[in-house]
Amino acid sequence: MKCAVFASGNGSNFQALVEAFSNPKEGVEISFLFSDHKDAYALTRAENLGIKFFAFSPQDFKSREDYEEALVTLCQKEKVDYILLAGYMRLIYAPLLEAFPHRIINIHPSLLPAFPGRTGIEDAFKARVKETGVTVHYVNEEIDSGEILSQVKVAIEEDDDLDSLAQRIHQAEHRLYASVVRQLSQAKGSKK
Ligand code: GRF
Repeated sequence: MKCAVFASGNGSNFQALVEAFSNPKEGVEISFLFSDHKDAYALTRAENLGIKFFAFSPQDFKSREDYEEALVTLCQKEKVDYILLAGYMRLIYAPLLEAFPHRIINIHPSLLPAFPGRTGIEDAFKARVKETGVTVHYVNEEIDSGEILSQVKVAIEEDDDLDSLAQRIHQAEHRLYASVVRQLSQAKGSKK
């Protein structure tokens, strides 16, 4: 099963996916990284890991539609089965959603539908809830609202600060994303 990863920034989830599937026996290939930010650290990680990467942004095109069409062309040319969003800070629109129906997945650092948006970890921490977590879900046109594939809870401890909580959330993300992708690959394999 071939996957593209889309990331706008740090790329720790991208790296965790590459490392989780480094053994070809797993049957999951992280085919390439795409970033909409030409200076994203995720691109440096791709270079260091020997993974192909591409970077362009909507500003490089006449319209947002043209940008998305370029992404469709790229993903079709590379023959990917799934697009894994990992810190990709843009909405996905019809061209990609229609070209890859039920094939675009996102990871979000909260127990959706609680705390959607860009500051899911901080919002949960400030709300003083006892637990938060991580969600992997299908992507639709709205933010953080597609069908949920899997969730894992992360307790917020009395002595947590935002950094310690964020660290545990990211560790949980790295495990959960790989495990969901593995399940999708096994399901795909069993349908052959
Ligand atoms: C993660 O917390 C992910 O859930 C959210 O953006 C963050 C990306 O982190 N969508 P990284 O770039 O993978 O380190």
